[in-house]
Amino acid sequence: MHDRLEKIKNSTEEFLKNATELKGIEELKVKVLGKKGELTEMLKSMGSLPKEERPAMGQLVNDVRIFIEEKFDYYTRNLSKKAREMQIKAEKIDVSIPGKKFEIGSKHPMTIVIDELKNIFIGMGYSIAEGPEVETNYYNFEALNVPENHPAKDEQDTFYTTCGHVLRTQTSPVQVRIMEKGELPIKIIAPGKVYRSDELDPTHSPVFHQLEGLVVDEGITMGDLKGALEVFAKELFGDETKVRFRPHYFPFTEPSAEMDATCFACKGSGCRVCKDSGWIELLGCGMVHPNVLEMSGIDSKKYSGFAFGMGLERVAMQRYGITDIRLLYENDIRFLKNF
Ligand code: DAH
Repeated sequence: MHDRLEKIKNSTEEFLKNATELKGIEELKVKVLGKKGELTEMLKSMGSLPKEERPAMGQLVNDVRIFIEEKFDYYTRNLSKKAREMQIKAEKIDVSIPGKKFEIGSKHPMTIVIDELKNIFIGMGYSIAEGPEVETNYYNFEALNVPENHPAKDEQDTFYTTCGHVLRTQTSPVQVRIMEKGELPIKIIAPGKVYRSDELDPTHSPVFHQLEGLVVDEGITMGDLKGALEVFAKELFGDETKVRFRPHYFPFTEPSAEMDATCFACKGSGCRVCKDSGWIELLGCGMVHPNVLEMSGIDSKKYSGFAFGMGLERVAMQRYGITDIRLLYENDIRFLKNF
């Protein structure tokens, strides 16, 4: 028994001296001092010793237990301290290291223009409407009075999905979606992306932005159209701006027109921005065709309306003197930083 005690004492101390993890120490403690531990078992087996040997042996086992317990305490404390020191070292923060730089972006020129136009129209009492970019043939063409064999439906200039939808070629289908709701009067604008199968070049892009407008109420006339769009042009280009309307054709309006505004850069005398004409072509417009009202469930005897649509890239390009539309989509930081 003496030998066994000596062995337990030595091997335990040896282990503790070399221990690098608290977990190992815990495990050994259970193995030696636990309920079924080696030392505990020895205490239990005292009963088998001759009576007169028991007190001395009992004393000895107890001394060893105390010795071992102290060792466990000592090495546990020692190792915890070391672990804490290492943790502190690892978590040390060097406050003198320069911080990470976060580049702050700026608004994209298209966003600036769209926000400005929205503000102008909101100020004139319009609300903002939205529609899907993946449209049905019905909303993009049919409901807008575009006949089945109209060239605008050509696969040359329209993206079709394999399941027969179209990427909207204009924001005009939003007009139909709003009218179908039947909540009158209507006074909305709908800015958004449109798609056409055009080659990318300095003035064309297969995706670009338009802004649609629609006003429907009882007694709306061409006079309302002209008044509203003239106010808009003055808000956009300044009070001295004049507008002119040229007759045009759109399938969904009758009569239809294109509106020009005097050039904001030269005030009408002719310059590079307006290609020496003094005028800038701004938008298409017209009185909503009775067929279009009726197809959307609006009584064209009672109600009338006007609509307009404009390309937004051109507005941004003229405003900022951008000569290549591709710059608007390339996300080159050197370009975008200028706005
Ligand atoms: N949707 C037309 C286009 O893409 C633009 C347009 C013209 C919209 C006249 C209108 C409008 O609402 O009345 O060329």
